[in-house]
Amino acid sequence: MTDNKNFFLRNIWYYALPGEQLKPGAMVAKKFLGEPVLLARTREGKVFALRDICPHRAVPLSCGRFDGNEVECCYHGWRFDSNGRCTDIPALVEDQELDFSRFRVKQYPVRELQGNLWIYMADKDKVDSPTPEMEIPQVPYFGDRTYNLLQMLNFPCFVDHAVVGLMDPAHSPYVHRAWWWQLNRPLVEEIKTFDPSPYGFTMRRHKIPAVPRAYRIFGGGEPETEIAFYLPGVRIEHLIVGKHHVCNLTAVTPISETETEVHTMLYWHTPWLNLLKPFIQPLARNFLDQDRQVVIKQQIGLQYNPSLMLIKDADTQARWYYQVKTEFARATTEGRPFVNPVKEQVLRWRS
Ligand code: FES
Ligand SMILES: [Fe+2]
Repeated sequence: MTDNKNFFLRNIWYYALPGEQLKPGAMVAKKFLGEPVLLARTREGKVFALRDICPHRAVPLSCGRFDGNEVECCYHGWRFDSNGRCTDIPALVEDQELDFSRFRVKQYPVRELQGNLWIYMADKDKVDSPTPEMEIPQVPYFGDRTYNLLQMLNFPCFVDHAVVGLMDPAHSPYVHRAWWWQLNRPLVEEIKTFDPSPYGFTMRRHKIPAVPRAYRIFGGGEPETEIAFYLPGVRIEHLIVGKHHVCNLTAVTPISETETEVHTMLYWHTPWLNLLKPFIQPLARNFLDQDRQVVIKQQIGLQYNPSLMLIKDADTQARWYYQVKTEFARATTEGRPFVNPVKEQVLRWRS
């Protein structure tokens, strides 16, 4: 049984937005962990994030204007720079001196990596967070490259249910039924070795026992894969078939207690895969939507607040997720280093 209380992890990087969705000189209003956030990109290309509430009288700053440099509130025209400092209060007359810089909007650290924007969500009451040292998970093999394909869906659930779905090996034959993936194949026994990795765990590189049909497009070669999970909800898979490498980054971001965004990106360097994008795109969406649909069904049962079970070994990764999450929260509260509760282990299940 699990008795995990719903809580959002703080002092960690969350996936915010695909970088291409924030053009130079534009701003986007979002919500992360229940907090309203304004993301903007200056004309020079610098991305910044501010709390989307004017400190004067609470109108969302995103209702105002952005000139590519500063944000102007739509109510009384107060202006804020990319650090959240107030730079102008138009209602003041010349001899009414006031130190504008005392008026601050909370600023969030943001970073752009491999085509994606990440936001650091510190403790709720911190106005400024020092630049966090913690690394942002990145796909291996592709360097600074951006993704080739992107999908995003909103899951109407608390973040943990979407994250657990990412690492749940037993749902695949039931949820992901499609002619191009797997259909009515007998379950096979899987034996996988796991190692602890930074703020998570990694399924060691291995040959895939029941190869999904879609992988046949790579022709010969036995597909091998390595799958890593990182807090707060990031899954990175590195698939190798012969000379082809494909990486999948899936990132889960809590928007509120009941809404979660799931972004999934594919990276490849195989030129002919670009030609197949119009076919791969709907399949990838369909795959992600299968996960979403089952979570929607799960919400029906969760309304009655039942206790949930995690069985071994198929649910051991989910159990690790809760353990790693709890340890991270404790370590940050106590101001001590994170100690990974996951140890090297072999897990067996049928899927
Ligand atoms: S509410 Fe924003 S300037 Fe007054
Ligand atoms: Fe799934």
